[in-house]
Amino acid sequence: MEKAQFTRIDESTREGWEITTQYDEEHRAELPGRLLAPLARMGDNESDQPYQVTRLEHCLQAATRALRDGAEAEMVVAALLHDIGDELALFDHAEFAAAILEPYVSRKTHWIIQQHDVFQGKYYWDHLDLNPDTSRSALRAALRKCRQTPLYTR
Ligand SMILES: [Fe+2]
Repeated sequence: MEKAQFTRIDESTREGWEITTQYDEEHRAELPGRLLAPLARMGDNESDQPYQVTRLEHCLQAATRALRDGAEAEMVVAALLHDIGDELALFDHAEFAAAILEPYVSRKTHWIIQQHDVFQGKYYWDHLDLNPDTSRSALRAALRKCRQTPLYTR
């Protein structure tokens, strides 16, 4: 593989950046395939996962439900990948997934993926070992913030 000749960014050249840009474009084209690996790993070690279904099965269920609901392909794929950040972004997996999908999806789909943990929160945030008043007020604030955006529709 041809390599850019610079070793310091302040000494970089147009020719060097053309080489790295070519590589970046090829690397981007491979993204869909690379996303399948972490998705598949969400089905590994089924007996070690505490849920009734694996994280992979959960993602497949979400995508299947979107498909059955007549959602566009973009939303079906987004539903499939909505938890792709579970493995690496332990404290904000929704933002992680949204950041990966942002260049490829509509603003609305990006926002839905980015906010999906907030909308789920009303079902379980009270069950977490948190101060109930704090978690309820955090949930209310998060939901209020979501509802104030033009992308929110009931
Ligand atoms: Fe999630």
